Amino acid sequence: MKMPPKVKLVEVGPRDGLQNEKLTVPAEIKVALVHRLQEAGLREIEVTSYVSPKWVPQMADNAQVMSGIERRPGVRYSVLTPNLKGFEAAIALDKAFWPDEIVVFGAASEAFSQRNINCSIAESIERFRPVVEAARSAGIFVRGAMSCAVGCPYEGEVAPERVAMLAGLMKNIGVQHVGVADTIGVGTPFKVQRALEATLQHYAIDDVSGHFHDTYGQALSNTLAFMELGVWQFDTSISGLGGCPYAKGATGNVATEDVVYMLHGMGIETGIDMDKLLDAGMFINEFLQRKSGSRAARALLSKRES
Ligand code: HMG
Ligand code: MG
Repeated sequence: MKMPPKVKLVEVGPRDGLQNEKLTVPAEIKVALVHRLQEAGLREIEVTSYVSPKWVPQMADNAQVMSGIERRPGVRYSVLTPNLKGFEAAIALDKAFWPDEIVVFGAASEAFSQRNINCSIAESIERFRPVVEAARSAGIFVRGAMSCAVGCPYEGEVAPERVAMLAGLMKNIGVQHVGVADTIGVGTPFKVQRALEATLQHYAIDDVSGHFHDTYGQALSNTLAFMELGVWQFDTSISGLGGCPYAKGATGNVATEDVVYMLHGMGIETGIDMDKLLDAGMFINEFLQRKSGSRAARALLSKRES
């Protein structure tokens, strides 16, 4: 089996991981988490979202968090911007605090698009179009998230043709990279591979990433299934934190620690220091008063204590 020699992980814990937490996490804790993650060697961090604070109150401190981070050279910071209002807020700050990358997020399912961003898929593309144009002319990279690429909490199974259609629409408006997202974690290896192949009708393998929630315990297998087809970029979340407020019951993303454990065990480079990653996980879990959602972290921490 041919595997990519190097894998890039995009840490989405501060955004996807925390967006659904009931407990308000103060901006300084979010900033301290980002600092620990970059210290552990993560080179891309999805920090926050510029969305309606009525819809997602946890992300209301977006500007405070973005302006609180001590940036490290070589680290890319991304934010979610669903519309022009969000993008304008993201660049209203001093340029030193602008994101390197923005994410427009659409869905392969109509019902999810309505619940998550309050518009149809076609309308969402029209909202994204000016955002993509503005971001690219400001020199900001544009990533697209494609939610419900295998299943939808409202519509059930989602056909690969729907994913191909969404990928085509994203490509057409100039989105530079797309993430195939299993929002509710229902995918299994062959199903996610079909969603990937549909995406590859419009995007090159180097411009595609995997974003797997782990509700059914399939996220690591799905990661490997993507790697088998050549994908080398994945979104992961520290300690498996996360979920989407509009995908009830869905758990967090695959845990960064679990993916790093798997990759290092396979001799694949990530640039991440597991020990420091464990520290980052401990920091946020202590704040949330929770045990780690990462099996690898729990095992490694119990060894550390003994
Ligand atoms: P809308 O109601 O259609 O927007 O919401 P609107 O333009 O009609 O405005 C309504 C109100 O929202 C107005 O305020 C606007 O000012 C405000 P009001 O007059 O009522 O006080 N507003 C905004 N405020 C701040 N920032 C903005 C913004 N836009 C409008 N950017 C909107 C559309 C997208 C804003 C709304 O539906 C929303 O915020 N949804 C939340 C979506 C979200 O954050 N979901 C979770 C992230 S996506 C995810 O987790 C999936 C992913 O991980 C991949 C996967 O796993 O599938 C990426
Ligand atoms: Mg997600």
